Amino acid sequence: MVTPTTEPLHALYRQHILSVEQCTPPLLEALFAQAQAFARRIEAGQSTTVLDGAVVANLFYEASTRTDLSFQAAVQRLGGRIITTAGGVHYSSVTKGESLPDTVKTIACYADAIVIRHPLQGAAREAADASDALGLTLGRAVPIINAGDGIGEHPTQALLDLYTIKDRFGPRLDGLTIGFTGDLRNGRTVHSLIKLLAIDGDQVRLICMAPEALAMPHEYVQFARSRGIEVAETDDLLTVIGDLDVLYVTRVQKERFVSQHLEDLALRAFGTHLDYLDTETQRALRPVAEIHAAREYERASASYIIDEMIMRLAKPDMILMHPLPRVTEIPADIDQDARAYYFRQVQNGLFIRMALMAAVLRRQG
Ligand code: NCD
Repeated sequence: MVTPTTEPLHALYRQHILSVEQCTPPLLEALFAQAQAFARRIEAGQSTTVLDGAVVANLFYEASTRTDLSFQAAVQRLGGRIITTAGGVHYSSVTKGESLPDTVKTIACYADAIVIRHPLQGAAREAADASDALGLTLGRAVPIINAGDGIGEHPTQALLDLYTIKDRFGPRLDGLTIGFTGDLRNGRTVHSLIKLLAIDGDQVRLICMAPEALAMPHEYVQFARSRGIEVAETDDLLTVIGDLDVLYVTRVQKERFVSQHLEDLALRAFGTHLDYLDTETQRALRPVAEIHAAREYERASASYIIDEMIMRLAKPDMILMHPLPRVTEIPADIDQDARAYYFRQVQNGLFIRMALMAAVLRRQG
């Protein structure tokens, strides 16, 4: 077997990691090989000190368990250190009205990299611009790692997802059928994963299964199709479940519904974006948006539940994936099924983030 070279990892050194669009097939191969090497070291009980002396800041404006803690664990297992505001951003100067760029510029003075999660799409880009602007004055821009920006992207989750699929099916995925279900409209993990599969370039077949209100945004379907990947769309899981090699389930993103309904109401009632309305009017629209959102959530969350009956219709060697947290979409008794792969994803998240942070912070080779 030819060992992939670590050279493509040089491309990540001191770079912001904002989107999977920064990836190339050789880079993915090198990153996955590195992740596997770290996995072996951990299994063998060996420690590493590649990030000795490095300080990374986690800046999370949204709830997180896996992403936050796996970045912390990854950096610490590499011998680096993590800093965060005690009690999360709610105890930082954000509550005093500090802007995102100012917060980022401040933290960039203390840390070698900043891992950011934010409810607004584009926030990671804004943080990167702030870091670059400070870099012009201080002579050194601090890399920003996107750990989820609203309904935009979640690149490190997609990396660990693809790594998990390849770990199970081998490095080439040609001929596999991969299904996505749940909230494909608001789920940033599937947005990044569909793009990453297309960039990786193997001839997979994708099936997006969601009710119309939660359908995969056209731009992602287009992205995959423009790279020669076949994408089918349906709202009927039962007719396709038997064809799938991978079923990737997502949570219905309840927290995104209210803001979307607010935006829709503003457009319908006033013909303008919510941001252009005064605070009084925005506040008045909220109860109506909440009622609409609750109704839609009830309907959507009951749409696809992967229970034993559905699993009986699936291939015996299909794998069932979920970025977690799950709510009702996969009942806990499915965890015993050998096809349940979501906790392997969790474990692989550590190895992938170790490989990524090592490449961003230390010149390889
Ligand atoms: C996801 C996220 O935050 O986008 N979780 C994760 O990072 N593993 C999925 C979700 O919140 O549903």
